[in-house]
Amino acid sequence: MAKNSSHVGPGDPQVVVLIGATGDLSRRKLLPGLFHLAATGFVPGMRIVGVSLDDINLEKFRSFVRGALDQFFSRKLSEDDWAAFAQTLDYVPLAKGARALKAAVKKAEKSLGAKSRRLHYLSVPPAAALSAVQLLAEANLVKRCRVIMEKPFGTDLESSVALNSRLHEVFAEEQIFRIDHFLGKEAAQNILAFRFANGLFEPIWNRNFIDHVQIDVPETLGLDGRAGFYESTGAFRDMVVTHLFQILAFTAMESPTSLEPTPIGEEKNKVFRSMLPIQPEDVVRGQYAGYRSEPGVDPESDTETFVALRCEIDNWRWAGVPFYLRTGKRLAEGQRIISIAFNEPPKSMFPAGSGVGAQGPDHLTFDLADASRMSLSFYGKRPGPGMRLDKLSMQFAMGETSWIGDVLEAYERLILDAMRGDHTLFNTAEGIERLWEVSTPLLEAPPPVRFYQPDSWGPKSIHQLVAPRAWRLPFERAWRNSSNSSG
Ligand code: BG6
Repeated sequence: MAKNSSHVGPGDPQVVVLIGATGDLSRRKLLPGLFHLAATGFVPGMRIVGVSLDDINLEKFRSFVRGALDQFFSRKLSEDDWAAFAQTLDYVPLAKGARALKAAVKKAEKSLGAKSRRLHYLSVPPAAALSAVQLLAEANLVKRCRVIMEKPFGTDLESSVALNSRLHEVFAEEQIFRIDHFLGKEAAQNILAFRFANGLFEPIWNRNFIDHVQIDVPETLGLDGRAGFYESTGAFRDMVVTHLFQILAFTAMESPTSLEPTPIGEEKNKVFRSMLPIQPEDVVRGQYAGYRSEPGVDPESDTETFVALRCEIDNWRWAGVPFYLRTGKRLAEGQRIISIAFNEPPKSMFPAGSGVGAQGPDHLTFDLADASRMSLSFYGKRPGPGMRLDKLSMQFAMGETSWIGDVLEAYERLILDAMRGDHTLFNTAEGIERLWEVSTPLLEAPPPVRFYQPDSWGPKSIHQLVAPRAWRLPFERAWRNSSNSSG
């Protein structure tokens, strides 16, 4: 694999303590991401100490890591890179305790030299976060360290306040990195570039020109063996209070004074402060038929596998503009879009049957896939006699540029930032606590779950939620690809 020349990585070698090393996130994203960062030379020396409940030895852990790469590493895997990476791995079963962990970290540090730093990655569910913090404190691994906390951060306001205060007893705030991988997606950062580096759209980015916004992240994925986590989490805590609200903040925030952590955090927090509390009547909770018979799921489970809601940001820019959010498992398509619907003009000059307005308002659409895309749709004249209108679009696809190979996956980017001590794309305690606060009315009185068929778009009542508007998905016109250039 080509070694990285433009050095944007940390200056010092890193010992990564990966707690939850044999979990689903680790297997899918963290280990492949760490491998990529090591193989491309972004990090000047790295050793990984895996920790988990599994009582396995180092050889078993190595083969687990190799299996994870074979299944989830999205680039071509070089055997030389693997051989080098395998030598940097170590493993400590949780049952061996703080002393064994400390010994493994010391050993890794010895081989990396005196300048090495520690990065603790807590890839554990909220209920296990405090005991992982305790383990690191007992092992005396707090100095020269940074700690990444996975989402969801707590499960409600009270638990997130308690987690923050316990964290602050052990770590200084500048050591803590509360991750939300959606903010590491290239496409999410491109929202900021698009809005604030151009003069074209920002003047109309407000209640005078925008009718409503949709943030829609349907997934075809089901539980995928994560029943233990999912049953106690559900779609709202897993996706909305985390990823969707963070994307909402990038879409709605005022321009920060600079692209530094404090100004960005402050602007995001202002959005969260202006959000009206989420009312249960503005929420549709769903559960896919068959969920209750999945292994590990309570046969009477009330956990939602789907959620759609309406929220409002009661400030000068957005008052009265609804933001509709939707996400769920086992839905008809996997998509991650933000769709901005513009106000419609008076159409009096166009003859009846011209087609004006017939395909909804003009839209600006962002696709948050790694190979991000954007589309601006508008009405234009169809060639020929008379005035027949049709929906046309201008589209940009990162995949068609020569930069596509430079895209870092969200976790890779964020791990690198944490190693460099850069908080810009991480969340603050205040922001997260406020999000739990606005969610409290919903969490205290959740509406009953409604069933939906797998491969559908959710329960039927989602249409009432947005009426008289309509959901953008499924798209009437698919994204264009380079081989298909119509409308
Ligand atoms: C994770 C959730 O944080 O995000 C998963 O726990 C979800 O349930 C995933 O599938 C979606 O992330 P991405 O990057 O694949 O869209």
